[in-house]
Amino acid sequence: MATIRPRRATSNGNGGGNDLLRQLTGRVVGQPQAANQIVPYIQMHQAGLAPEDRPVGVFLLLGPTGTGKTRTVEALAEVLHGNEKQLLKVDCGEFQMEHEVAKLIGAPPGYLGHRETPPMLTQQKLSSVASEACDLSLVLFDEIEKAAPSMVRLLMGVLDKASLRLGDNTSVRFERTLIFLTSNLGAREMQKEMQPDFGFEALVPCSAPRSVPHATRKLDRIGMGAVRRKFPPEFVNRIDAVITYQPLGADALAQIVDQQITVLERHIRNRLGERAFELRVNRAARQLLLRRGTSSEYGARELKRTILRCLTQPLAAMTANGEIPPDAIVHAELNPDGENLVLTVVV
Ligand SMILES: Nc1ncnc2c1ncn2[C@@H]1O[C@H](COP(=O)(O)OP(=O)(O)O)[C@@H](O)[C@H]1O
Ligand SMILES: [Mg+2]
Repeated sequence: MATIRPRRATSNGNGGGNDLLRQLTGRVVGQPQAANQIVPYIQMHQAGLAPEDRPVGVFLLLGPTGTGKTRTVEALAEVLHGNEKQLLKVDCGEFQMEHEVAKLIGAPPGYLGHRETPPMLTQQKLSSVASEACDLSLVLFDEIEKAAPSMVRLLMGVLDKASLRLGDNTSVRFERTLIFLTSNLGAREMQKEMQPDFGFEALVPCSAPRSVPHATRKLDRIGMGAVRRKFPPEFVNRIDAVITYQPLGADALAQIVDQQITVLERHIRNRLGERAFELRVNRAARQLLLRRGTSSEYGARELKRTILRCLTQPLAAMTANGEIPPDAIVHAELNPDGENLVLTVVV
């Protein structure tokens, strides 16, 4: 029987593995439907009740850029395996031409390039992204709308029979995997739907929560329409759940800013050892990061880079120059010009 043993408590304080829903929802802001749809499949596997001869779950994640699709899979890797990088990611943009599929499954013996083309997807690679804490491997096919038709055909075998035949005629089994397909199909249309003139908040005001399910259903329909136009029905039928990501509202984006600042603070504490200091970022400074790092077009995608430029790098320079004594407090505030952050050291 398949098992997930409770994960050992780690330094990041995630605790055991039995509260997946809470842990996942906490990491992926404003998209509770994602955890709600994914977690039951993991529990089915935990209970030994997952159907045989197919992957444990196949999920299609749709919606605008920078709303948390890829982040969901990374967050799940963190929760299940203790490391957000512990997943197998196939960038479908690298498999746009028919001949490129050989990179995925390896060239047949005797073919040109057989030795130089070890398959990207092997049983060993799948096992290497499982862990002692959890025997499920997470496989992410990112941006599947870019995949060549022959890759889509290969994927169909994986989704249906949990099996992939490699160039050397051996098979890779996918029974202990969760498969995530991400796509921005329909995303532009969704964006238009949500922000005709006034922005997402205008269509879904906080005071009218009843309109949210309606808007969500509409986004689902737009996404599925685009998917059905692009992929054959036998492909679409093999997907267990389609999860549509919502454009992130101002509250969710502000929460993501706070989340990433907390990560930076933890980084400073854990990495700098006795040179560690306390970072305090006030409200106005957080709002500048929000303005600079988020947009309706790219969601929160640019936020990490913005925090890196505005906080991490200047702090690193100050540390390197010995400007921050141990146990000091560094205040990040808005410059009077309102366009930049100033960092002040208080001893
Ligand atoms: N819902 C979210 N919760 C937390 N962080 C998010 C969320 N959406 C986006 N982010 C941040 O933006 C980055 C890019 O998001 P990502 O999930 O890669 O976008 P996409 O939906 O295009 O796959 C993430 O690494 C994360 O830092
Ligand atoms: Mg992505």
